[in-house]
Amino acid sequence: MSEASPVVTWEIRDRVALIGIDHPPVNAASQAVRAGLLAAIERAGGDPAVDAVVIFGHGRTFVAGADIREFGKPPASPILFEVCLAIEDCPKPVVAAVHGTALGGGCELALAAHARVAAKDAKFGQPEVNLGIVPGGGGTQRLPRLVGMLRAIEMNATGKPIGAVEAAGLGLVDSLADGDLVAAAARHARGLAGLPPRKTRDVAIPAFDRADAEAAIAGVERRARGQISPGEAARMTLKAADLPFMEGQAAEREVFLRLVASDQAAALRHVFFAEREVAKVAKTEGVAARPISRVGVVGAGTMGAGIAVAFVEAGYAVTVIETTDAALDAGRGRIDGTWARSVASGRLGEADKAARLDGIRFSTDLGVLADADLVVEAVFDDAEVKRGLFARLSAVVGPDCVLATNTSYLDPNDLATVVVNPGRFVGLHFFSPANVMRLVEVVDCAATSPETLATALAVTKKLRKLAVVTGVCEGFVGNRIWAVFRRECEFMLEDGALPHEIDAAMESFGLAMGPFAVFDLSGLDIAWSLRKRKAATRDPNERYVAIADRLCEMGRFGRKTGAGWYAYPDGKKTVDRQVIAIVEEESAKKGIARRPFSPSEIVDRLVAVMGREGEAILAEGIAARASDIDLVFVNGYGWPPRLGGPMFQAALRRG
Ligand code: 3HC
Repeated sequence: MSEASPVVTWEIRDRVALIGIDHPPVNAASQAVRAGLLAAIERAGGDPAVDAVVIFGHGRTFVAGADIREFGKPPASPILFEVCLAIEDCPKPVVAAVHGTALGGGCELALAAHARVAAKDAKFGQPEVNLGIVPGGGGTQRLPRLVGMLRAIEMNATGKPIGAVEAAGLGLVDSLADGDLVAAAARHARGLAGLPPRKTRDVAIPAFDRADAEAAIAGVERRARGQISPGEAARMTLKAADLPFMEGQAAEREVFLRLVASDQAAALRHVFFAEREVAKVAKTEGVAARPISRVGVVGAGTMGAGIAVAFVEAGYAVTVIETTDAALDAGRGRIDGTWARSVASGRLGEADKAARLDGIRFSTDLGVLADADLVVEAVFDDAEVKRGLFARLSAVVGPDCVLATNTSYLDPNDLATVVVNPGRFVGLHFFSPANVMRLVEVVDCAATSPETLATALAVTKKLRKLAVVTGVCEGFVGNRIWAVFRRECEFMLEDGALPHEIDAAMESFGLAMGPFAVFDLSGLDIAWSLRKRKAATRDPNERYVAIADRLCEMGRFGRKTGAGWYAYPDGKKTVDRQVIAIVEEESAKKGIARRPFSPSEIVDRLVAVMGREGEAILAEGIAARASDIDLVFVNGYGWPPRLGGPMFQAALRRG
């Protein structure tokens, strides 16, 4: 085997040129890969010793897409669609041998080949939409020619990959291979030698119903919730039926270039890399996680029940502890109710539900946790209660059992003081509903050992959740920033804005729900009791907005009481004059002359305070990276990925 370029290998075996892409870890189609591929294809086309060509990937995968790190920089020649055209125009048959993933530009390279041979577990997809762009190497124009218009619209607009077996059924894969994939592809290629190569771009799009395609596109746009790329990808795909291939290709390129330079695409790229960075935790480098199989969950309220469900669904043996039989029954009911909803929606069979429930050990005796590898505490957020519990737990469990607290606001370092061997103590801050929400703040406490932290990260990964490591401070990352966000919302209320104006501004910014609607949904009472608890120690010079207190004093705790920042006649959120009157009264009490706020001022102010608090969190070493903070908001606070998160937005505004 010789090297055509540092990242593309060249070998001739039995008159078949084997062109191998060798650019670990995922063979992303960087400029060097594209140049190497182009040179190798041209060489194969002109080499009299070659009858046919196979393109394959070295290592774990075919090609996972264009190199995302190059986006945002000027395009470097040769661009992918030129490479794809060169492959398609090669006078000798070119077969793509696909294992692992052929995603994005990888799928497009495979589409441009004259045939595709795939390992049975290979996957094909055009996930560009998830990066805020459309395919740029001909994916919108070639895919419908092989899989049909409706399927192509779906694949290009959702980005969801399909397996090789399904791809074979659709005509995207010509042959499935067992065993040596490259050898199978070479055999396939040799069989095509001498025949005129079948160019995908010359294949007629199978007949389809235009109205169905338009309806599919309308559905895509409806579901996109402000994200531009899915609709653009779907429309571009339909253009394949209206334009000659080269014109369609040029139009696709134009949309690709426009979107790749957009803020949405920059934000989605930021989130993509943020998700890979967040897993890199210096303290656990080279540290092995402890094996965990038996998990205790203490407390079976909303949080504990959700946590128990998450652990059971991830395959752990779970014990649920409550203080009384009645509380235990209520907890069992909550867990049962969660799975009953899964059964009702057809996601879970009745027998599986019963088996899951039967598999949980319910007990009021803490002593049964003697065999646990990990215990997660999710009891009432009260320091004395939790300290007492951890002291008793310490005496019951084995010396290496990891002890985790789900506290939101208490100081976990203080809780750790009662634990024997506090190196095994860690915070696992789940978000409600814990079985649904992807975020877990893994709180690295003063005493937490590297092994315990590594174990907590391994467990959250097995739960298929996104772990963000935080240090100890009040509210950790998410609730601390949420608190300043909330405070700023209230300052603006007092200064002249109204709840529904702030909500409308934040909703048009991109949040699914404005902050006051969220406060009403989650309830105003918990924050109220927290404020009351802190009243005695509050700095009297600190600006304090009493509007929320006044609502709570009236029993307006949000949706659950039928009124909060809004009224809810018949369950429908309605602007309430009484609330407006209270807001105006509170401004008047402080002698504040109310002034109007524009939507952009509201958004800018809220983003700025979040960004500033985030900077403080970074300066204190509570979070490792600004992008970690963004992930907290994308995965725990309903920020759509296309906004990138508050730190990304703050940086965007700073320019
Ligand atoms: N470009 C650059 N780097 C990439 C990359 C890409 N397309 N895909 C993955 N990487 C990097 C990751 O950042 C990570 O780097 P790190 O080790 O330095 O953090 C490394 O490769 C390994 O990636 P993962 O940790 O994600 O590995 P997994 O095995 O968990 O997942 C994967 C592999 C499913 C391929 C996943 O990486 C993935 O989904 N990649 C992106 C696929 C994609 O979106 N492709 C489309 C790109 S856009 C495009 O092709 C445009 C074209 O139409 C012109």
